Amino acid sequence: MQPRHAAFWLLLTQTQSTLANPLQLEKRDLATSPPYYPTPWMDSAADGWEEAYQKARDFVSQLTLLEKVNLTTGVGWESEQCVGNIGSIPRLGLRSLCMHDSPAGVRGADYSSVFPSGQTTAATWSRTLFYNRGFALGEEAKGKGVNVLLGPVAGPLGRMPTAGRNWEGFSPDPVLTGVGIAESTKGIQDAGVVACAKHWVGNEQEHFRIAGEARGYGFDISEALSSNIDDKTMHELYMWPFADAVRAGVGSVMCSYQQVNNSYGCQNSKLMNGLLKDELGFQGFIMSDWQAQHTGVAAAAAGLDMSMPGDTVFNSGRSYWGANLTTAVLNGTVPEWRIDDMAMRIMAAIFKVGQTIEQDPVNFSFWTQATYGPLHWRAKKGYQQINGHVDVRADHGDLIREVAAKGTVLLKNSGVLPLKKPKFVVAVGEDAGPNPLGPNACGDRGCNNGTLALGWGSGTANFPYLVTPDAALQARAIQDGSRYESVLSNYATSQIQNLVSLANVTAIVFVNSDSGENYINVEGNTGDRNNLTLWKNGDDLIKNVASRCPNTIVVIHSPGPVIVTDWYKNPNITAILWAGFPGQESGNSIVDVLYGAVSPGRTPFSWGANRESYGVDVMYTPNNGKGAPQQYFSEGNFIDYRHFDKSNSSLIYEFGHGLSYTTFEYSNLKVEKSNASAYQPTVGVRPAAPTFGNFSRNPSDYLFPSNGTDAIYLYVYPYLNTTDLAKASTDRNYGKKASEFLPPHAIDGSEQPLLRSSGKSAPGGNAQLYDVLYTITADITNTGSVAGDEIPQLYVSLGGPDDPLLVLRGFDRLRIEPGQTSQFKVSLTRRDLSNWDTTIQDWAISSYPKTVHVGRSSRKLDLSAALA
Ligand SMILES: *[C@@H]1O[C@H](CO)[C@@H](O)[C@H](O)[C@H]1NC(C)=O
Ligand SMILES: *[C@@H]1O[C@H](CO)[C@@H](O)[C@H](O)[C@H]1NC(C)=O
Ligand SMILES: *[C@@H]1O[C@H](CO)[C@@H](O)[C@H](O)[C@H]1NC(C)=O
Ligand SMILES: *[C@@H]1O[C@H](CO)[C@@H](O)[C@H](O)[C@H]1NC(C)=O
Ligand SMILES: *[C@@H]1O[C@H](CO)[C@@H](O)[C@H](O)[C@H]1NC(C)=O
Ligand SMILES: *[C@@H]1O[C@H](CO)[C@@H](O)[C@H](O)[C@H]1NC(C)=O
Ligand SMILES: *[C@@H]1O[C@H](CO)[C@@H](O)[C@H](O)[C@H]1NC(C)=O
Ligand SMILES: *[C@@H]1O[C@H](CO)[C@@H](O)[C@H](O)[C@H]1NC(C)=O
Ligand SMILES: *[C@@H]1O[C@H](CO)[C@@H](O)[C@H](O)[C@H]1NC(C)=O
Ligand SMILES: *[C@@H]1O[C@H](CO)[C@@H](O)[C@H](O)[C@H]1NC(C)=O
Ligand SMILES: *[C@@H]1O[C@H](CO)[C@@H](O)[C@H](O)[C@H]1NC(C)=O
Repeated sequence: MQPRHAAFWLLLTQTQSTLANPLQLEKRDLATSPPYYPTPWMDSAADGWEEAYQKARDFVSQLTLLEKVNLTTGVGWESEQCVGNIGSIPRLGLRSLCMHDSPAGVRGADYSSVFPSGQTTAATWSRTLFYNRGFALGEEAKGKGVNVLLGPVAGPLGRMPTAGRNWEGFSPDPVLTGVGIAESTKGIQDAGVVACAKHWVGNEQEHFRIAGEARGYGFDISEALSSNIDDKTMHELYMWPFADAVRAGVGSVMCSYQQVNNSYGCQNSKLMNGLLKDELGFQGFIMSDWQAQHTGVAAAAAGLDMSMPGDTVFNSGRSYWGANLTTAVLNGTVPEWRIDDMAMRIMAAIFKVGQTIEQDPVNFSFWTQATYGPLHWRAKKGYQQINGHVDVRADHGDLIREVAAKGTVLLKNSGVLPLKKPKFVVAVGEDAGPNPLGPNACGDRGCNNGTLALGWGSGTANFPYLVTPDAALQARAIQDGSRYESVLSNYATSQIQNLVSLANVTAIVFVNSDSGENYINVEGNTGDRNNLTLWKNGDDLIKNVASRCPNTIVVIHSPGPVIVTDWYKNPNITAILWAGFPGQESGNSIVDVLYGAVSPGRTPFSWGANRESYGVDVMYTPNNGKGAPQQYFSEGNFIDYRHFDKSNSSLIYEFGHGLSYTTFEYSNLKVEKSNASAYQPTVGVRPAAPTFGNFSRNPSDYLFPSNGTDAIYLYVYPYLNTTDLAKASTDRNYGKKASEFLPPHAIDGSEQPLLRSSGKSAPGGNAQLYDVLYTITADITNTGSVAGDEIPQLYVSLGGPDDPLLVLRGFDRLRIEPGQTSQFKVSLTRRDLSNWDTTIQDWAISSYPKTVHVGRSSRKLDLSAALA
């Protein structure tokens, strides 16, 4: 993309040329984030939030300052049962609310399910399955007493294929991810649990996301990585799916660990106040990632609403908020309207999903699976039954099996699939079998043993069982009268070769590659993958089998692409399947696809010929001395297929590719123009900030009840230890006025102008962005002999010199019987056809001629038409 800010991009060149011997850059040369204040307060008339805000107003108006502070501040790491809990309001009967992982299941719980990863779900391209998976996840969380489920994920988006947590999200395409995060959000929230869209924003790699963590790995840096993202790319790529989540009514958003333009995610006013709350009109609350908060008052002014898990660092007993927030409100540094806004946003999100003040108890403990134990784990206090072992799985196993099967991608098929009562099936590879130490042998799935069904880190859950491919294939073989053997080792070369050389063998080779979160090191991979090749000798295993067996089928479990260049063309390799991270029903899901019971999905990312073909990569070595590593998103919008389309880099399987067991014909493309009215920039004002209730200004009303004698060890409270505010705070710099360390108007609660790009009481941005400008239809006919699911995709060429060749703007998953025709229909909105105009700070449709393309992948576009 073209440089927009000369100094910014010049710096980029300098940084890269000094990579070999990095010196710390001068602070004045670094990318900066503009101040954006005051923080937009909630709009109680916002679409979809009216009733929730009515209830929140009734409740919050009754609260004391201490009670409001309790809502905003976590009680500290390991202080209650969940991965994060806020304080309670005993006077009004509200228990401590539970914020809990993960986007794939209830982390650390028992008798709950492990769902397919977000990325595998994305490969289904099915709105219904996105929603159903979200709903089932929500039901399980609800059944355990979770109030806020920490997912779904749109950051990382997937800029770099080696990045560790891409599998937790959906796809590097913002539209596919946008639909994924919006439908998941609706599902989770319809089940009665608040969803949390994370991580806002630019959280694209694991290395250097937290300075302390990086130091633990021997990198001497004092600040976390800065993702330097220009305004256009932010809007057109990274923010896009979050806008969909906000429009879907998401109740909470988690700000991220790393910095954007050298300002931390949880105190960056441009990101939280400007983009999320003002432009997108987000009405829920922003919580910090765990220990991602680095300041007290400044974070409050920048838009943070909840401190998680509440302590400054785990188990410090200290907090940037808690007593500090009480003090800051009493001394006037944090205005009353700001604490009221935090409380209102939190309670509105809770009410929006149908929760009430009376809550069922949390009936598990993240910290132990024992039945009895301390309620307050860190303090070892409150010994009681803490785990009800409540089985929340219902019939979710069926859905898990369906999603994983429909999200398995058939990359290659010479005609051997689907299998029909094969004479002799041989499964090969460690990845086909169980982990000898059990599916949950390693904490947070931090090892790669046996079949790989989920990556590692906080985005995981405990398997209630794990159906291995070996078990499911054997069961199916017995049912069919096939012969069956398996060799669950990657290194038994001669035994494998002898076996697969026998007559009539259908060999199915299982291989994998793993990734996860930075705090666990698996075989030298600290979250991000060190390479894009298969683990555990996988390439040699495949080659060994294929050298002896003319019917070799390869199944890949991985968190994104792997390099298949060496062997994918081998004629003995008759089929290749990508099975992602399938979750607990892994074996059953792969059997369903191999035997043709279920139609496969389409790849939600590109498969390059080599690592370099992606154009961008994880930064593995700091490039700014001891300062914050500087990661420039200089490729702009050109990631994944947009990059391949632009650069002619060597590509093996394109974005959207995937074979089917039947054939489809595309015809009859029609473009119908709607007469939407011209775009009206939003005008008007946000009325002055409201306050709810009164509070005492007398410090003695804020002391610990019973003089702190019953305080729980290392627990974070809202109370003051002494009526001397400075002493109660223990803040070394106590006494600074807001005007001394915050920009002007940072805490100004007077009427504010609305942004032209924002919505007027319409979450998601200016409502006219979602006006339908064109309706596109095409006919799809199943010309084969079996029923099948086709996944038609609609791409738009926006036409400008800076635009990608194609951008995905619509898709569907259609079940079509043989000989039948179904209509594929996409409504193209104003946003779909616009670019972000950095000058007017709004979306605008360029004058370049635009074209729509409909087809079966990003490179197989059967039909095209001009948008006139
Ligand atoms: C980051 O800096 C770029 C270049 O100046 C600018 O376009 C963008 O808006 C900034 N983003 C944030 C969040 O500060
Ligand atoms: C704040 O929360 C703590 C922890 O749940 C609770 O012990 C305390 O009573 C609460 N304080 C108020 C004022 O509600
Ligand atoms: C947790 O389980 C107990 C029974 O063990 C039940 O009474 C309670 O309602 C359950 N909590 C939730 C949130 O369902
Ligand atoms: C208040 O915040 C400061 C850091 O800004 C911290 O050092 C201090 O311990 C906090 N006070 C309390 C009571 O947690
Ligand atoms: C007010 O309290 C906050 C939090 O303890 C502190 O950081 C700030 O310095 C105080 N300001 C004044 C003017 O007392
Ligand atoms: C399990 O995996 C770890 C690392 O992922 C490896 O070091 C270890 O040898 C494996 N153990 C078994 C029993 O395969
Ligand atoms: C099994 O292998 C033998 C020897 O190659 C061949 O004659 C026979 O047709 C094969 N049967 C099947 C069902 O593939
Ligand atoms: C890629 O990483 C995996 C896991 O650490 C390792 O097993 C494999 O040998 C590496 N591949 C190459 C080519 O180094
Ligand atoms: C394919 O398998 C046959 C054995 O059936 C073997 O002779 C041949 O070399 C293999 N071809 C390749 C390209 O590996
Ligand atoms: C509270 O405790 C402090 C010491 O921890 C003591 O100096 C003070 O007198 C106590 N106040 C009351 C009212 O008991
Ligand atoms: C406040 O008092 C409680 C109870 O005595 C104690 O646990 C805590 O460490 C004190 N906090 C500060 C910031 O002094």
